This record gives sequence, C-alpha cells and structure tokens, in this order.
Amino acid sequence: MRMVDLIEKKRDGHELSTEEIRFIVSGYTKGEIADYQMSSFLMAVFFQDMSERERADLTMAMAESGDQIDLSAIEGIKVDKHSTGGVGDTTTLVLGPLVAACGVPVAKMSGRGLGHTGGTIDKLEAIDGFHVELSTNDFIRQVNEHKLAVIGQSGNLTPADKKMYSLRDVTATVNSIPLIASSIMSKKIAAGADAIVLDVKTGEGAFMKTEEDAKKLAHAMVGIGNATGRKTMAIISDMSQPLGFAIGNALEVKEAIETLQGKGPEDLTELCLVLGSQMVVVGGKAKTLEEARAMLEDVIKDGSALEAFRQLIEDQGGNPAVVDDLSLLPQAKFVTELPAKQDGYISFMEADEIGTAAMVLGAGRATKDSVIDLSVGLVLHKKVGDFVKKGEALATIYSNTQDLAECQEMLYNSIEYSNEPVEAIQLVSALIT
Ligand code: URA
Ligand code: CA
Repeated sequence: MRMVDLIEKKRDGHELSTEEIRFIVSGYTKGEIADYQMSSFLMAVFFQDMSERERADLTMAMAESGDQIDLSAIEGIKVDKHSTGGVGDTTTLVLGPLVAACGVPVAKMSGRGLGHTGGTIDKLEAIDGFHVELSTNDFIRQVNEHKLAVIGQSGNLTPADKKMYSLRDVTATVNSIPLIASSIMSKKIAAGADAIVLDVKTGEGAFMKTEEDAKKLAHAMVGIGNATGRKTMAIISDMSQPLGFAIGNALEVKEAIETLQGKGPEDLTELCLVLGSQMVVVGGKAKTLEEARAMLEDVIKDGSALEAFRQLIEDQGGNPAVVDDLSLLPQAKFVTELPAKQDGYISFMEADEIGTAAMVLGAGRATKDSVIDLSVGLVLHKKVGDFVKKGEALATIYSNTQDLAECQEMLYNSIEYSNEPVEAIQLVSALIT
C-alpha cells in the first residue's frame, strides 16, 4: 500500500477500506508516514467526509494505537461521560457520585489539563489529602466495592490521536466532524468505556458554534458508538454562559457538594439530571430516561449521592469531613464584590472571557508548568435574563492578591445589557439517543 494512493482515493471522494485506514493510522503513529502526507490526507477528509463505517474504523485504529485500559474485572457496564468544553463545568464532580449511588460503576480516568480552571483531578485535590495515585488493582477493587474511583491518566493512550491532533491544530483541520468524533470516541474506548454519554456544547467558544453542527457531531459520535458496540447517547447543551455559579477549583468542589445535597444552582442541577439519566440508562440500571431521573432525584433526596462522594473522599485519602464543613476547603485571603456599573437586563455573558478572568487569578493553567491556586476564582450572582441594579454585585472575586484590575476589567467586558427583558437561555436543546 502507498500513502499517496490513499490520499488520492479520499481526495476523489471514495471510501477507504478497514485495512487502508489501519495502514494510515499505524503508519503515521510509527513515523513511517510523513507529516506532509498525513496533513494532506486530513484535509481530504475535511472536504470529503467519511462514511459511518470509515469513522468507526478510524476510531478503533486510533483506540488501538497505544495502551488500552482493561476494566473487564469490574462488574457491570462501565459508563463514561465526556463534555466537549465548558467553563466552570462542575458536572463530572457531581455525576460520579450521583450515578454511582444508582449502582452504575464509574471508573473515571481524569486529567489536569490546561484551561480556565484545573481538571477534575486538580479540583478533587482541593480536598485535603485526596490523591489519585491508585494501583490498577486498588482502582478496580474500589469500583467493585463502592462503584466510584478516580485515577490520574497513566500509560500511553491513543498516541495516534495526540499526533494527529497536533497536526490538525496547525493545518486548519480541527473543525471536521469525522475527525473530532473519532478523536473523542477513541480516547473513551481506549480508557475502557463500555457505554458513553456525550455533552456536546454549542455557542460562542464551543467547537460547534451552531446547533445544527453540534447535532451533526453528536450523531456522528452516537453512530461510532453503535458501530463499535458501545451504547452511546448525547445531549446538546449551551455553553455561551458559564454553567453554575462557581469557577475555580475549591469553589467548584463546594458547588458540587451543594448540588449533591440538592441545594445547587438550577442549571448545573438540571444538566446533571439530564446527563445522569442517560448514564443510568446506558449503564443498564433503568429502562427509560424518566425512570432514571426519578432514581437520581431519590438519591439526592435521601442523601446517598452525597454519601457516595464522602466514600470516594475517604477511599482516596481525603478528609471526608469536608462534605459537612465546607470551610475545610482552601480559602482565599480576599473576598471582593464586583458591583454593576449600570441598571439593565443581562443579555450576554461571554463564558470564555469569564473563564479567563478566573485564570488570571490563578485558578487555571496558562501553560502546562503553571501552578494552580486551588482557593481562588469567581462566584457569579447573575445569569443571562436576570435584571441587575447599578451597584448590585454581579460576582464575588476570591483572590490572594488585591490587584484585581485585570480580572475586573475582563469581567466587565464580558457582560452586555439590554433595557428590554431578555429570555433566559435554554440549557439543553436536544437529546440524541
Ligand atoms: N476534542 C478532542 O478530543 N478532539 C478533537 O478533535 C476536538 C476536540
Ligand atoms: Ca460551575
């Protein structure tokens, strides 16, 4: 087989065979196919798309390009969830305990990553003593006993995706539905998921700016899931404004605990119930989304969801008292309100810009060597559609410095007003099952 022939075949709109796709992915991973040929191939895919079968083959070839996590020793259907972005996205912290309390095994592999706040692991490390360095045996035993464990990323998962993503980043081929879908699904499959739930974000700052494109991406991933034997469901949700109120590591742990207690922000609670319902259904613990939702509401009400979080903390060396005493979380030195400069209805809150305002306080990593300050961040008091009076607090800033000029300016710039009433944003716009 010659790469040049396969580029030509895709360029001319023909379908590649399973063997041809494997040849490309493994050849590129091993360094036998050059970047210039691979970039040409990716551009051909960008314009010609891939059939459902080709997408599934590409996904499996990438999933098998490196180490694969074997979770077969865990009883039950292992369900994983993925969000395609989000600012102050606290859902993972809530969903793990929430669905574990319904009997769905959650074997979560998480990362730190770059961004506005830390990853799930950074957030959990805001709990004194919490660690994610578990042996594979302990990880599996913990999920079998208590349905929930979180481990740091280890091993060399999907090296093909890492290499292809870097190349796509500099060749204008990131925004391709077959390439995004196979990239995301290959990582979930390599991490051992039997079933997958996807939260595809739309709006400013998301990969998919329009609802139509977001739906196409969601359908592409559900199609890959079905073709590779992983039951997959998806939702489309808005990320034009931040989710919940808290953006920052310890602040999001606090918000997650409050949500598990049934006292969380309405939007975050709703998103967790919608995604959690799909997780419980694909995990085989309920037949319908309605039945699953009632189970989730019950485990919040009777305290077992919170108990699952307490158990996770205890199992992984953290101080479980934090779930009853939120003052045990890292506290910032300075707490400063951000007063509104005018009256009006909030018509727009730019999620990305607000996330960056939290990052400049130290809540996230600008580069991979940045050190995170777990105590700092923002708590919003208003969302799109709310009326605000001049002088009223838009947000509270938690910081360890009194020099807040940059953060404050970013926050003011991120908010737009209208004199007329503005409708609240619909959070979940579609379910794909
Ligand atoms: N996220 C991924 O993991 N892969 C993509 O290609 C795009 C977004
Ligand atoms: Ca949040």
